Amino acid sequence: MSGHDYFKKKTVRDVPIDGKTILLRADYNVPLDTSGNIADDYRITSSIPTIKYLVQERGCKVVIISHLGRPKGADPHLSLKLVAGRLQKLIKKPVKFVPACVGDKVSVATKKMAAGEIILLENLRFHSEEEANDEHFARKLAKDSNAQYFVQDGFGVVHRAHASTSAITHFLPSVGGLLLEREYQAIEGAMLHPKQPLTAVLGGAKIADKIELIDRFIDIADHIVIGGAMANTFLQYKGFAVGKSLVEPDEKTVIDKIYQDVAKKVGLDNIDNFLILPSDVAVAQKVDKKQPRKEVEASNVHDQEIILDVGTKSMNRIEKCIGREGTVIWNGPLGYAEILNFAYSSARLALHLAKNPDITSIIGGGDTADFVLGWDKQKGRSFSHVSTGGGASLELMSGKKLPGVEALMK
Ligand code: 3PG
Repeated sequence: MSGHDYFKKKTVRDVPIDGKTILLRADYNVPLDTSGNIADDYRITSSIPTIKYLVQERGCKVVIISHLGRPKGADPHLSLKLVAGRLQKLIKKPVKFVPACVGDKVSVATKKMAAGEIILLENLRFHSEEEANDEHFARKLAKDSNAQYFVQDGFGVVHRAHASTSAITHFLPSVGGLLLEREYQAIEGAMLHPKQPLTAVLGGAKIADKIELIDRFIDIADHIVIGGAMANTFLQYKGFAVGKSLVEPDEKTVIDKIYQDVAKKVGLDNIDNFLILPSDVAVAQKVDKKQPRKEVEASNVHDQEIILDVGTKSMNRIEKCIGREGTVIWNGPLGYAEILNFAYSSARLALHLAKNPDITSIIGGGDTADFVLGWDKQKGRSFSHVSTGGGASLELMSGKKLPGVEALMK
């Protein structure tokens, strides 16, 4: 991966920002538990290198903006105050919270800032203008923050064209932060110049969500492993009975095309070595954490059974196929990983990647990142890269241009 520059935009390193006020877009859309506490702070810890660089090495004043959740108007349960407290604890510096993101409170607080100070503003999505990519709102964000530069570091949100990712760049010189750059280096590096062999492991429920990614991997990968509920639809397509498992109807034409493309690439005889489906599965009578794990051949799923995980024999084969070096890009849990009995295949894959440091392991964000971060005692450091983006990492891997990055200075 080294030696290539996969982030084609200017970053904080390329501009004269010393002592300036910076408007920094982070993605602090963190998961909250049922009591409203932060369930996982990976997105917060991942933002710290950029903030430290700006305050410690460049003497900047840093005004941070983010969204949290999908509120319709102001909602005290989705206030970023909670995040300010956690960030302050993690970064070991005072972080002042201002309960607004535009207006007098913001302009007064930001005018008074000294070098090295950090302020976090309130949830951008309390204003509908944020998601509407409203120019007037973006102008106010720029003006009221008293910023001279905009830094985009919220990788998780750059697939959205919102006021704080797109319109804002019309009002301030705009560059990328260190997290954004790191995400591009890791993901684009693995996609464009992978250490061979490249295995793509794809889970999740919907083929439609992953079809562009599957197409791209048919071009560039040496193997594609299909797991998750998506595998049920493939198994049914191949004529297996899948009982009461979650399947997607009407995907025949799409899967026909996938198999045609695979056959074109590897020849008819090698299709099943390239596109790997589970040959055994774990089933249960219902989706419930008390259900025991029962493994059967994929050809032996009964009417009342639900496929909830990839089986042991299939995992042996998948591990062998991945080997001990090369690249693995993993997007989507392999089974119903929220339930321990059916998290087995995802945990085995995580363990294989963690145990083999010669494998470049790229974990696409969202559910897969949540799973490995919960599994990993090293908070994600057991892997080469755990992405902070869900939809954003999927779109980047699929080869799409991300509006929040396109808008930055070249
Ligand atoms: C995410 O969690 O994927 C990002 O923060 C974007 O959030 P959104 O899907 O609500 O736009």
